[in-house]
Amino acid sequence: MAVELNVLALSLLFLLASNAKAQPNNGVFDVMNFGAKAGGKTDISQALMAAWREACALVSPSKVVIPEGEYVLSQVTLAGPCKAPVEVQVRGNLKAPADPSKFNNVPSWVTFQRIDHFTLSGAGTFDGQGGYAAWAQNDCKQSKKCNKLPINIRFNFVTNGLVRDITSVDSKQFHINLLGCKNLTFANITINAPDQSPNTDGIHIGRSSGIDITDSRISTGDDCISLGGGSQNITISRVTCGPGHGISVGSLGKYKDEPVFGINVVNCALINTSNGVRVKTWPASLEGIASDMHFEDIVMVNVSNPVLIDQEYCPSNKCNLKAPSRVKISNVSFKNIRGTSATQVAVKLACSSGIPCENVEIGDINLSYIGTKGPATSQCSNVKPTIAGRQTPLACGLIV
Ligand SMILES: *[C@@H]1O[C@H](CO)[C@@H](O)[C@H](O)[C@H]1NC(C)=O
Ligand SMILES: *[C@@H]1O[C@H](CO)[C@@H](O)[C@H](O)[C@H]1NC(C)=O
Ligand SMILES: *[C@@H]1O[C@H](CO)[C@@H](O)[C@H](O)[C@H]1NC(C)=O
Ligand SMILES: *[C@@H]1O[C@H](CO)[C@@H](O)[C@H](O)[C@H]1NC(C)=O
Ligand SMILES: *[C@@H]1O[C@H](CO)[C@@H](O)[C@H](O)[C@H]1NC(C)=O
Ligand SMILES: *[C@@H]1O[C@H](CO)[C@@H](O)[C@H](O)[C@H]1NC(C)=O
Ligand SMILES: *[C@@H]1O[C@H](CO)[C@@H](O)[C@H](O)[C@H]1NC(C)=O
Repeated sequence: MAVELNVLALSLLFLLASNAKAQPNNGVFDVMNFGAKAGGKTDISQALMAAWREACALVSPSKVVIPEGEYVLSQVTLAGPCKAPVEVQVRGNLKAPADPSKFNNVPSWVTFQRIDHFTLSGAGTFDGQGGYAAWAQNDCKQSKKCNKLPINIRFNFVTNGLVRDITSVDSKQFHINLLGCKNLTFANITINAPDQSPNTDGIHIGRSSGIDITDSRISTGDDCISLGGGSQNITISRVTCGPGHGISVGSLGKYKDEPVFGINVVNCALINTSNGVRVKTWPASLEGIASDMHFEDIVMVNVSNPVLIDQEYCPSNKCNLKAPSRVKISNVSFKNIRGTSATQVAVKLACSSGIPCENVEIGDINLSYIGTKGPATSQCSNVKPTIAGRQTPLACGLIV
């Protein structure tokens, strides 16, 4: 017993000693110790990169801290793989260069890449310093130039992580973009941009699975959350959206092999948005599948298209509307959706004439039209939904 204790004490001592040597800061790397200066005049990107490199190389969990204060930050990519879990805690307010030409046509401001077991936390702000001068260069309808404006925060191939408490404001393009991520939770996120700022989607998810977005507030000029091709097992709960274009799946059908499965949107509120919950696919599209999508317990306040499946989505009016979408939509439910519609057609299911929607369920809808043209209505094409519970308006005009 005594021997065992001694061995334990010795190894504990050894552990403490080696820890003390390897981590002089208990695994905490404050950017101020790497030359960062607050006050919003000197770029902290080099300091942040230096702190990141040390944190990422540590064999035990580590944390990079940006303390309270104002900072300017030019473009950075914080990349793994790292040796152990890393947290980046942003307590301060980070400001991007206001001038889009400072980004050298790389459409990213802060990128987190190839990191496993990652946490981004802190009550700090990522201020993209968009503004109408920058947004005016976002001319998606005329050219492809819009892709060149930077996205505030990118997560590329980040797995098993948590993003919490942060705020993103006035991104020049999308606020948060996910590509190739797995098992990430976004909690208590705030996103803010004016309702006239183009293409400033709140959170865009592509080719990612196991993503949860919860307890968050998003006000923006485009979709609050958009789920692009390859989004699988996504849960969105307790999110308030507005102004903005709503919570959207799509637009789908532009790329091959990007099936969408397992979307759950529950307990959300949409306020003053141009759409509520919608699924959109391009006409004349490639083949695709979007299935197992469920929208439940949603409150709409003055929403223009509260419930919408749009398989002829064509915002620029430059599509071939003669050929149908070839994205097959199936196993969809809209349940317990209530509140007010800003347009008379409160429920619209416009499915593909080539591949009708299958297994769509509508249950307990109570949407009233706030205008003066009469009661709310519902329009459907190429779909025969299953109807349950009370329906205002009558689903697809059917009396059940
Ligand atoms: C998902 O990520 C969280 C946070 O890192 C982790 O605790 C959890 O074990 C992961 N789940 C799976 C199935 O790997
Ligand atoms: C949510 O984030 C804010 C900072 O943006 C913080 O003050 C607040 O405590 C957080 N709420 C929870 C429940 O963690
Ligand atoms: C999605 O979730 C289902 C059920 O939990 C699981 O079987 C499937 O492997 C998951 N798919 C992905 C891509 O995470
Ligand atoms: C909706 O927008 C109108 C006009 O901008 C505004 O007056 C109203 O307060 C907004 N409603 C809510 C609930 O925010
Ligand atoms: C409804 O939204 C429209 C903009 O879509 C706005 O002009 C109007 O003031 C809003 N009405 C209410 C009652 O909030
Ligand atoms: C839709 O649901 C049915 C019944 O639950 C299931 O058999 C079918 O595989 C689902 N379709 C897709 C494309 O997942
Ligand atoms: C529908 O909502 C209205 C208020 O918007 C409410 O008066 C009515 O009771 C609701 N109907 C049902 C069946 O819940």
